[in-house]
Formats: sequence, C-alpha cells, structure tokens
Amino acid sequence: MAGPVQINIPSTIINGAGACDEAASQAVRIGLKRVLVVSDPFLVGQGLPGRIVDQCRQAGIEAQVYGGVTPEPTDVNVEEGLALLRENGCDGVIAVGGGSSIDAGKGIAVMAANDGPLSEYAGYHRIPRPGIPLFAIPTTAGTGSEMTRVTVITDTRRNVKMMMLDAHLLPTAAFVDYTLTLSMPRPLTANVGVDTLTHGIEAYVSRKAGTMTDALALSCVDLVGRHLVQAWRHPGDHEARKGMMEAASLGGMAFANSSVCLVHGMSRPLGAVFHLPHGLSNSVLLPAVTRFSVSAAPERYATVARKLGWAGAEDDTSTACERLVDGLRELNETVEIPGLRDCGISKEALTDALDKMAGDALASGSPQNNPRVPTADEIKALYLEAY
Ligand SMILES: NC(=O)c1ccc[n+]([C@@H]2O[C@H](COP(=O)([O-])OP(=O)(O)OC[C@H]3O[C@@H](n4cnc5c(N)ncnc54)[C@H](O)[C@@H]3O)[C@@H](O)[C@H]2O)c1
Ligand SMILES: [Fe+2]
Repeated sequence: MAGPVQINIPSTIINGAGACDEAASQAVRIGLKRVLVVSDPFLVGQGLPGRIVDQCRQAGIEAQVYGGVTPEPTDVNVEEGLALLRENGCDGVIAVGGGSSIDAGKGIAVMAANDGPLSEYAGYHRIPRPGIPLFAIPTTAGTGSEMTRVTVITDTRRNVKMMMLDAHLLPTAAFVDYTLTLSMPRPLTANVGVDTLTHGIEAYVSRKAGTMTDALALSCVDLVGRHLVQAWRHPGDHEARKGMMEAASLGGMAFANSSVCLVHGMSRPLGAVFHLPHGLSNSVLLPAVTRFSVSAAPERYATVARKLGWAGAEDDTSTACERLVDGLRELNETVEIPGLRDCGISKEALTDALDKMAGDALASGSPQNNPRVPTADEIKALYLEAY
C-alpha cells in the first residue's frame, strides 16, 4: 500500500456571492497593515482592484495596486510587483484576477520573504521560507489557482514556463465569488471552463490520485458536466456561473494534491512557444490525449464519462470510454474552441518545435503521472494529432 499523502488547501475559504467584499475584514483579522493588490490592466480598468483598495482603506489598511500582470505571467511581472511591494513596505498581497494575476501574486508574496532567484524554485518543494500572507480572489472559472500550492511563471530568458509546487505558495485565504465571473466573454468562459474540466479529469486519472482527491476531482467533473455549456450559452445565468466557479475551485484542490498529467505536460511548452492562453492550449490537446490514455485506466475514464452524463450505468467500460473521447471533441465544437490549426500556427512551425516541446514536456514531470506514460515520439505524434 502507498505511503501517506500530504494535502494542502487554504485555511480560509469564503464561497458565494459577495465573498470578495470580505477580503478587507479578513486582512484586519490577520493583522495586515499595508497590502499590495496585484491585478492586470483590463481588470484595473474595470475597477475591481480599486474597489478592494477602497475597502482596505476604510478598514484602516493602506493599499497600493500593481496592475501590470500580463497573461501567462513572467518573472518580469514578479520583479515589478516586488519592487512596488518593497517601496511601500507591504506586509501582505491580495491577488485579484484570473490565474495570471493569482500566479503572479504568489510569486511576489514568496519573493518578499526569500532571496531567490525565482528560477531556483522551479520544481517541487524548493522554496526555503513561507511567503508573506496572500489572499486570492479569482475572476475566472477557472484555473483553481486560488486553492493551489502551484504557480506557473514564464522564465523570459529561457522561454520556459516554470512550474513550482510548494506549500509556501498556498494562499492564506481564498474568496470564491462567482458574481465576478458574470462578465467573462464566451471564448474565455470556454477556455477556462475546459481547463477546469482538464484539472478534474487529470487529478482523477493521475497515478498520484487518492481517496480524498478523487472526491474533489469527481465533484469538479460533475459540476462541469452540468454547468459549462449553460454558462457559455447564457453568460448571465447565476446558477451556471456558480457551478463553474465551484468546479474550478474543487478542481484546483484536486489537482494540486494529486497532480496534472499529460495534457498539462504538453500544454505548457505549446503555450510557451506559440503564446497560446493556458486554457486554450489544454483544450485543444484534451481529446487527443484522452484517446491516447484511456486504455491504461479504462474504469477511471468510464467513471468520468458517466459523471459528465455522456454514458449511463448500462454502458460497458469501453463504450463509456469511446463516449468520453467523442464527447470531449463535441464539447470543444459546442463551445467553439478552435483546433490547433486555427490558432494561427502553421504546420511547419509546429513541426519545427516538436523536439523542443516534447523534451520540455517530459522534463516537467507531468507526463510521468499519466496513466499511459508516453515516449517523446508519442508526444510529438499527439501534437500532430491535435493539429
Ligand atoms: N497556479 C495554478 O494552480 C494554475 C492552474 C491553472 C492555470 N494557471 C495559470 O493561469 C493562467 C491563466 O489564467 P486564466 O485562464 O484565468 O486567464 P488570465 O488571468 O490570463 O486572464 C485572461 C484575460 O481575461 C481577463 N479577465 C479575467 N477575468 C475576467 C472577467 N471576469 N471578465 C472579463 N475578463 C476577465 C483578464 O483581464 C485577461 O485579459 C496561466 O498563466 C496558467 O499557467 C495556474
Ligand atoms: Fe490548467
């Protein structure tokens, strides 16, 4: 029997409409004096970071905004935010936004208490000291980053997405407020929604899956099956947005304590080389990678198909697995996720990048958690299959 497993989730989770308005009072509760609000230029323009600043000031906490986070955040974002944090003597970070803002906030909070360089912390459990307190307020549903001890930051010198997993990256508190996602446009809803589904599936089929993460992963898959298409068709549907927000957070809790697998292993190099958003690069790979993998864990994949409502109890395992692969392709069509060839990538450019991408994928360690562990040649064939 396998040994004990460590599970980390934030110690405070506030879930429901209006949750984001409780960040300031929680900051008071833990004694913060000056916080850095980390977000991106679009959201700063929409006003949410400013609202958090006002609430902090009303509660007697000084607050500054670093609003320069770029999609798929970089080491430069972390350095800029850290400089502002030091200038203002901040003792806490409130990250507001999608996975990019939250991941950048994690890097900043950790670097405020560690000497770095950040690239030295890439990999598993390599951060020496806890960061300063970090609150996470997600506005996409989503990466689940508000629940995870994971961050992904691009190393701009090597053009590699560095994945870091360490309990020191865990937010102190997560504010899961689905009303913040009502404004997501359809393509974003689709990309981040299929990312959420990928978290649920990969956490469940992973070689590192366990009883506790299974429960979280299957709840995530179940909610996506009931709410993603509805949230995409009817962006103002509160019940669907709530379902997807909760799916995203449950998916984050699941994968960070089990693991992601081959889809994420392959999507990070694809995103780094071709600058595709994280959710999109996962979504285009999910059907092909699932087709490749089902034979190694058929019962698990069949359970996923049933949770999604794509197979019934009367369907045998192999039928359910077929339904899953077909269903994932159909889901991408329904929510208008383009194929890889429609993402502005030429076949030649993809072919030229195959060696680097397959090497980087295997080096990340994620493919080794997949039920069927691929060779470099199999990874290259899967990139081409997704094209
Ligand atoms: N740390 C983790 O556990 C984890 C897990 C998965 C993904 N990620 C990372 O998350 C990042 C992607 O995050 P993301 O997919 O949430 O996107 P994002 O944070 O990059 O945001 C994408 C765009 O959507 C906009 N946006 C955000 N919320 C919005 C809203 N409510 N309405 C309208 N527009 C909105 C943003 O301003 C931005 O322009 C990647 O860098 C990826 O590596 C991290
Ligand atoms: Fe993801």
